[in-house]
Amino acid sequence: MGNYTITVLAGDGIGPEVTAQAEKVLETVAQLYGHTFTFQRGLVGLTAIEAEGAAISDETVALCEQSDAILFGAVGGATPGAKVKPEQALFRLRKGFQFFANLRPVHTFQALLNASTIKPEVLQGTDLIVVRELTGGLYYGHLEPAVPGKPSEIRQTERGTEAIDTLLYTEEEIERIVRVAFEIARGRRKKVTSVDKANVLSSSVLWRRVAERVAAEYPDVTFEHLLVDACAMHLLRQPSSFDVIVTENLFGDILTDEASMLAGSMGMLPSASLGTRRTAHGTFGLYEPIHGSAPDIAGQDKANPLAAILSAAMLLRHSLGLEHEATVIEKAVERCIDEGYRTADLRESGKEVIGTKEMGNRVIETVKRIAQEK
Ligand code: NAD
Ligand code: IPM
Ligand code: MN
Repeated sequence: MGNYTITVLAGDGIGPEVTAQAEKVLETVAQLYGHTFTFQRGLVGLTAIEAEGAAISDETVALCEQSDAILFGAVGGATPGAKVKPEQALFRLRKGFQFFANLRPVHTFQALLNASTIKPEVLQGTDLIVVRELTGGLYYGHLEPAVPGKPSEIRQTERGTEAIDTLLYTEEEIERIVRVAFEIARGRRKKVTSVDKANVLSSSVLWRRVAERVAAEYPDVTFEHLLVDACAMHLLRQPSSFDVIVTENLFGDILTDEASMLAGSMGMLPSASLGTRRTAHGTFGLYEPIHGSAPDIAGQDKANPLAAILSAAMLLRHSLGLEHEATVIEKAVERCIDEGYRTADLRESGKEVIGTKEMGNRVIETVKRIAQEK
């Protein structure tokens, strides 16, 4: 039993829709297990730009500072010619709190083998995690002086208009993320695949060298390198061969949208962004689905809330130290899927399609059922 403060940044588009369901599930867990979760809310993204003039205000960052964890929805949408991009909220939080390790588990539920566009026999047994470096690389690459959250620059020169992004990694940045991957692998199937583009990029040559040095400290873990283009192919050819994938920021972003289809939909993949700051019972972190604000389905009660709900489970595990409660949520999600409940993104013939809120309610009922079992 404990008291915890969670900052909820629901954001734009389907962000508020899916986050509301995750919050409802957390409230249910609090009631069932005697915890007190205090939710404090802040604006991020387009909504914050309109109301406060910035993608995230100093006050909202301060709210995050005073909490045990951040539950994030999604930001973004049409911003033609805008000076301030809604995505800057994410960059400020990631860089500001040094959330350098972004964990993106990809689990293919047995009952969803037929919901994917990929053949069931290929998907069978897929259970991997992508450890994405989140505070370096191209996202923060620019000429000096460094401006956090200003990822690129378009400028006029005598050659005409040009744009520049720089891919820079320090040895220290590579070492700490690779170490996270090996530690995670020790609790799993003990295999790490380091993904880079060492045949072209200097930053990848350094990445490979550092990864090999760290790997030598973990002789019990199988280690391999893969070039990112080949990795993209192997993910579809034999996804079950992967255990832990560690890679730089942009590669990890792209590979996980691809990998989401192994789970059936973007709406199935949660994530945790962690640094080194500790809470009373774990690590301070930001938890969000890997998907965006999905403007094409926003406001229609169509979005799949399971990625947000599974992100809430990761929040309980990593920031609040509530492993049992986290597992109960994960089991409830799997059971709902087993019982045939599907949002429109997981449409399968013969299965009834339900909306965002209804899916949230199904998970809550199932969490209650599981808590009463034993
Ligand atoms: P998106 O992830 O929002 O959507 C891609 C596709 O997947 C769309 O067809 C959408 O309908 C579908 N989809 C996404 N989530 C779903 C869910 N939960 N249930 C059902 N279907 C779902 O990517 P996009 O359209 O390329 O980007 C839209 C905006 O979101 C952009 O501004 C982008 O920058 C932003 N974005 C934000 C985050 C974030 O806040 N962490 C992540 C990714 C993209
Ligand atoms: C993600 C998103 C973000 C990223 C965007 C919105 C900046 O795609 O979290 O995967 O590229 O990191
Ligand atoms: Mn992405």
